Amino acid sequence: QDSNDLQGKTVLITAGPTQEAIDPVRYISNHSTGKMGIALATACYQRGATVTLVLGPTNEVVPPNTNIVRVVTAQQMMDACIHVFDKTDIAIMCAAVADYTPVHVATEKIKKSDQNLNIAFTKTPDILKHLGTIKKDHQILVGFALETNNENEYALLKLQQKNADFIVLNSMKDKDAGFGKDTNKITIFSKGGTVTSFETKTKEAVAHDIIHTILNH
Ligand code: C5P
Repeated sequence: QDSNDLQGKTVLITAGPTQEAIDPVRYISNHSTGKMGIALATACYQRGATVTLVLGPTNEVVPPNTNIVRVVTAQQMMDACIHVFDKTDIAIMCAAVADYTPVHVATEKIKKSDQNLNIAFTKTPDILKHLGTIKKDHQILVGFALETNNENEYALLKLQQKNADFIVLNSMKDKDAGFGKDTNKITIFSKGGTVTSFETKTKEAVAHDIIHTILNH
């Protein structure tokens, strides 16, 4: 497992949530902690890679020996990825990017009133999809999928729509998998049509399974 099979390779990983500001004191985000991406960054480093980890807001301990780029918003995550993608051999988009961001960020704290509050949202840039449009043949692009229904169908769709080489499906149905957990249960869909399912394992072990699968295609 700890062989040097990523020696000389440059890996880009996104991890964690993004936060999209509503006003100076509020934001919209999700429950991601970045643990899976941090485990991936550690595993890639152990196997000899040069790693850039673009990390959204999290209190998790960051891995040593990796180039950490801290970001807050989806747009910042996009910019950080584009900055290094040219020199990347393997890109693994593990982050739970917020899908929407407020159209306007209020400059002052929004005061509560007796009325309902409506906030208009616009879509954030899809980083994985964008990298899929600019990727060269030698570059390997890996996306993640987290669904609550029709998991396999959506994972396969994502593979095509985002021009990814692999999609890693995280189960939301397993009690030992998902946000904030130390274990995960995944199925990997490859562009070539291979589907590989794994047992519930620590996120460290899952990370090595992902790398192993990528390298053996
Ligand atoms: O489309 P969906 O969000 O379900 O796809 C998930 C995959 O796309 C993950 O790999 C995630 O990191 C990536 N993604 C992204 N930028 C977004 C939304 C998702 O890179 N704005």
